[in-house]
Parts: sequence; structure tokens; C-alpha cells
Amino acid sequence: MIDDEAAPHDLELRSFGRRRGRKLSARQERLLAELAPRVRPDLAHPAPADVATLFGAPVQQVWLEIGFGGAEHLAWQARHHPHVGIIGCEPFEEGVVKALTLIEDEKLANILVHADDVRPLLRWLPAGSLDRAFVLFPDPWPKARHRKRRLVGTPLLDQLARAMKPGGELRLGTDIGDYARTMLAALMRHPQFRWTATRAADWRYRPEDWPQTRYEAKALREGRRCTYLRFVRV
Ligand SMILES: C[S@@+](CC[C@H](N)C(=O)[O-])C[C@H]1O[C@@H](n2cnc3c(N)ncnc32)[C@H](O)[C@@H]1O
Repeated sequence: MIDDEAAPHDLELRSFGRRRGRKLSARQERLLAELAPRVRPDLAHPAPADVATLFGAPVQQVWLEIGFGGAEHLAWQARHHPHVGIIGCEPFEEGVVKALTLIEDEKLANILVHADDVRPLLRWLPAGSLDRAFVLFPDPWPKARHRKRRLVGTPLLDQLARAMKPGGELRLGTDIGDYARTMLAALMRHPQFRWTATRAADWRYRPEDWPQTRYEAKALREGRRCTYLRFVRV
């Protein structure tokens, strides 16, 4: 269901559903009020030339996860790569508080949380600031009349191509065959992305440094096959 909040940009359709779910606990309310403002990129001011300076820890690379859901992949990457700063984007409040809880519990100083649509953030970031980006199981919008809400298409790829460094990696996953085909077609047409796959196993299986997400686990339980795509920004 799509609620009646305004689209983030006149020309962009909302690619996400509801923003609020269950009532938050007192701790979650506190995390939103106190921690969220300390770990968010401030889009009201121009971005620094070097976005690595935004993190509370010294980082050598900056990665982006779009639609981190329950934040399990985001936190795994942050734990395993302490010298990488990761910006997670997620407009769904329950996901945001999950990430904030992990940041506080595990003192993860290398995560920033943009609790909103990724597209204004991509416009804000300086060109060539990202070393890696993840779009894992974006909302499939399976009904024909909703397909235009799918996030991954040429406009998002253009934004990512600008924000990513040459040589940076873009990882995408989906459990919907039709979405895999349209993503792949848009990527193959895009002059700034090159597919790294050389054999079927490369898109049928995840590499070890790509942990399973909650949504993927559900898709597999329900018998859907997942596609894993890795592209290089050329
Ligand atoms: C199907 S869920 C998958 C979540 C998680 N990546 C996983 O695999 O478990 C897709 C997520 O993308 C988020 N999303 C959709 N459009 C987005 C946008 N424009 N910017 C940031 N996140 C978005 C949704 O709120 C939702 O949590």
C-alpha cells in the first residue's frame, strides 16, 4: 500500500511503501531522537568534498547500501570492514531503528543512516565519492500498474554512475525474474557499467562477502530463485 505522503521529488515516483509500522519502544524513540541526528548525513548543508570525513571513525572507502531493510547486511559489512564507512538508506522507520540499535549496541562508528529516499542523497554526494554500492532486493512492485515505481532503472543508474568512482562495484540482488531481466537490460545498455559475470554460477550464487538478507531468506523459503548481479563502474 502506498500512503499519501508526497513524493520526494516532483519527477520521481515513490519506490517504497509505508514508512511507519509498529509502535516504537521507549528505547527506539530515544534512538530516533538522539542517535539518528548524530549519524545522519546532513543534506541541508553542502556535502564535504571528501565524504569519508563524515564518519566517526577514520575510513578509507565509502560504500552505500540502498534499502537496507533489517540492517543485517549493513551491520555485517560494517563489522567486517572497519576501515570502510557505509551510508545506509532506508525510509522505513522499523528498519532505521534496527540499524540504530546495532550501531549503539556494537559501537559501529563506521555507519551513517539516511532515513529517507536514496535519490536526494545521490544528488547531494560529490561525483566519484562511492567505492561500492548495494541494492539488495529492492521492492519488486509486481503489479503491472505499479512497475513504474521500481527503483532500479536508467535514472537511478545515471545517479549511481555519477556518485561512484571508476572501478567501484555495484551489487544488486532480486528474487523476481522479471525485475532481474529489466535491471540487467538497463545495466547492459548503460555505458558506465560492465558486468563482471563470466559463467552462470556468478549470478546464481552469492560470493562469501555478501551475507544473506532477511528478504532473500524469505524468498528462498518460498521457493523463489535469486539473481545476484555485480557490475563495475567503468
Ligand atoms: C524488499 S525490501 C528489502 C530489504 C533488504 N535489502 C533485504 O534484502 O532484506 C526493499 C527495501 O528498500 C527500501 N526502499 C525502497 N525504495 C527506496 C528508496 N528510494 N530509497 C531507499 N530505500 C528504498 C524499502 O523501504 C524496503 O525496506
